Amino acid sequence: MKNNTVLQLLEGKKLHQDIQISGWVKAYRSNRFIALNDGSTIHNIQCVVDFENTDEQILKQITTGAAIKVEGTLEESQGHGQKYEVVVKHIHILGAANPDEVKKTILQPKKHSLEKLREQAHLRVRTNTFGAVMRLRSQLSFAVHEYFRKNGFFYVNTPIITGSDAEGAGEMFKVTNYDLNNVPKNEEGRVDYKEDFFGKETNLTVSGQLEAETYALGLGKVYTFGPTFRAENSNTSRHLAEFWMIEPEVAFCDLDGNMDLAEDFIKYVLQYIVDHCQDDLEFLENRLLQEEKSKPEKDRSPMKLREKLDFVLANNFKRVSYTEAIDILKKSKPNKKKKFNYIIEEWGADLQSEHERYLVEKHFKCPVILFDYPADIKAFYMRLNEDEKTVRAMDILFPGIGEIVGGSQREERYDVLQSKMKELNIDQEELSWYLDTRKFGTCVHSGFGLGFERLVLFATGMTNIRDVIPYPRTPQNADF
Ligand code: 4AD
Ligand code: MG
Repeated sequence: MKNNTVLQLLEGKKLHQDIQISGWVKAYRSNRFIALNDGSTIHNIQCVVDFENTDEQILKQITTGAAIKVEGTLEESQGHGQKYEVVVKHIHILGAANPDEVKKTILQPKKHSLEKLREQAHLRVRTNTFGAVMRLRSQLSFAVHEYFRKNGFFYVNTPIITGSDAEGAGEMFKVTNYDLNNVPKNEEGRVDYKEDFFGKETNLTVSGQLEAETYALGLGKVYTFGPTFRAENSNTSRHLAEFWMIEPEVAFCDLDGNMDLAEDFIKYVLQYIVDHCQDDLEFLENRLLQEEKSKPEKDRSPMKLREKLDFVLANNFKRVSYTEAIDILKKSKPNKKKKFNYIIEEWGADLQSEHERYLVEKHFKCPVILFDYPADIKAFYMRLNEDEKTVRAMDILFPGIGEIVGGSQREERYDVLQSKMKELNIDQEELSWYLDTRKFGTCVHSGFGLGFERLVLFATGMTNIRDVIPYPRTPQNADF
């Protein structure tokens, strides 16, 4: 017989029928009731054991964390708290879990801090919180693919190992098969890559954008969704060294179209989880409410998780130019408690996260799309505006998150792009393939990158990016 899932059984499918289910024991009480979970849902199914007719050796091994297979029938439950339960006929111990050892782990059923759970990242998916987060993450990634598929986009897989630095920020992890203790050097004393695996300097990609652009100029509408790597030494709750990025790229689309796309896309995927993940969202909302209770009233979030999602879904993102944003920030008063120390002196400065948070959380109180940034603080590939000072860039800022999207209309004019690269000392030989797209049938085109983990943070209400990816990679941490 095939296993049923807890999800199926709780929907009442198979009532009064023989069923079989495998899962992990969450709790076992009164020698009679097993709370069993198989990962298919946040809920457990209660299995009622006929302990008088069950082998003592088996009963002994029904302990928290053990994997078991249960055969029985699904019946309406007489007890409170659940509609259905399994009346057990046979129990098989698939994998025991020594209770003394379990006590030393986060499998022990009590409240553990998120920091503690991170130390046992291989076990934390068995907790309710991580089960909920990881199911939501999976559903969100499905929604991402569904949105693009429904809207005529093609999924392209851009390389992980590249020879270029798409963002020009120099935050790359090198890829080499040289013995690092014995690296050949050339006459100038620099590393000689001729003998290295690829015969040149290579690194892990920081963005699939440049390659995606070349594909958009052939397939029209494309997107990537893959791992990206940044060797930035940012030890914050918003940065990972390895994160997943979604990057759509669209030919014949300008910045306005790009903003429309980003807003429509974000709303679609958030609506998807509101429609499909009620149980996990409810669990996470209650978890957050418990957490909020331990904070002083003034620091508590005014909105519950579902309210936050509904609010984003119901309202237009506010579109504001960088210049307008600077005016707003200049007029704002610094916060006495120094929480928002947001005075900006000069037009041209890059916004710090406290400025972004002020605009989103205090001033507009909704997601904000900032556009037309100073050229000097943005990447080389962005389209220069007529004022020759600003570029057609956009960042989307979200409450509690800050920047969730970075994108732009791309510089499609060969000569302008070439002179920008010259100005920034970007090797034109290395990027000749990219420049080629501007020589052969160039066109207006745009795209953006959305950090998947930042989206998962928003959707789950979690506050540390390390808690929305199975195995976070951060400075000094690649333990699992
Ligand atoms: O703003 P970024 O650097 O933009 C790009 O990489 C463009 N090439 C994207 C494009 O236009 N196709 O990164 C895009 C997004 C950010 O808005 C943020 O959400 C996320 O990627 N991100 C990170 N997420 C987690 N950890 C990090 N270290 C991140 N760096 C960027
Ligand atoms: Mg950015």
